[in-house]
Amino acid sequence: MTTEKSSTISPSPEQSRLLRDTLGHFATGVTVITTQDADGQPAGMTANSFNSVSLDPALVLWSIDKQSMGYKAFTTREHFAIHILRADQQHVSNLFAGRGADKFGQISWFEGANGIPRLEECAAYFHCRRSQCIEGGDHTILLGEVLEFSAFGGEPLLFHQGRYRALAGD
Ligand SMILES: Cc1cc2nc3c(=O)[nH]c(=O)nc-3n(C[C@H](O)[C@H](O)[C@H](O)COP(=O)(O)O)c2cc1C
Repeated sequence: MTTEKSSTISPSPEQSRLLRDTLGHFATGVTVITTQDADGQPAGMTANSFNSVSLDPALVLWSIDKQSMGYKAFTTREHFAIHILRADQQHVSNLFAGRGADKFGQISWFEGANGIPRLEECAAYFHCRRSQCIEGGDHTILLGEVLEFSAFGGEPLLFHQGRYRALAGD
């Protein structure tokens, strides 16, 4: 059976909820994106808005909520690192989705290029230089030029309709 919900965009809480639920039909991977704040402290958050943009030049994007505690760090610091999470890293996603929590005290990480924190484990990572901040309503879209990348493999962590998922067997 196909259920159909339609809506026009409206700022009411009900409409926002419906929009969020409808957008949730788009399945994504899950990333943790890290940077360093002005005091040299590590900052990071879970994000599924990551996507590829261009191969030449190598560009990726993601969007950050203007209310997030890491907003200033990510829009000020020139570099950030994107880590694609593996299926067995749900706890890492939950940790980095916590608001302002002590995220880096609870996982293994090291200082990578340009002082940006790198998670010890992930399926793949991209070290980026922020090339543009694009206005996007209650979010800002960050366009990053990929300076360095590496793939380690493993099954990816997926997110769909507000829940973590795993790949179904082939
Ligand atoms: C699966 C998942 C995906 C998320 N994607 C994003 C995203 O793309 N952009 C964003 O700003 N927040 C996203 N969030 C929410 C942030 O991770 C969350 O608000 C976090 O607390 C922000 O941390 P901070 O306030 O300490 O900076 C996502 C959360 C989850 C669980």
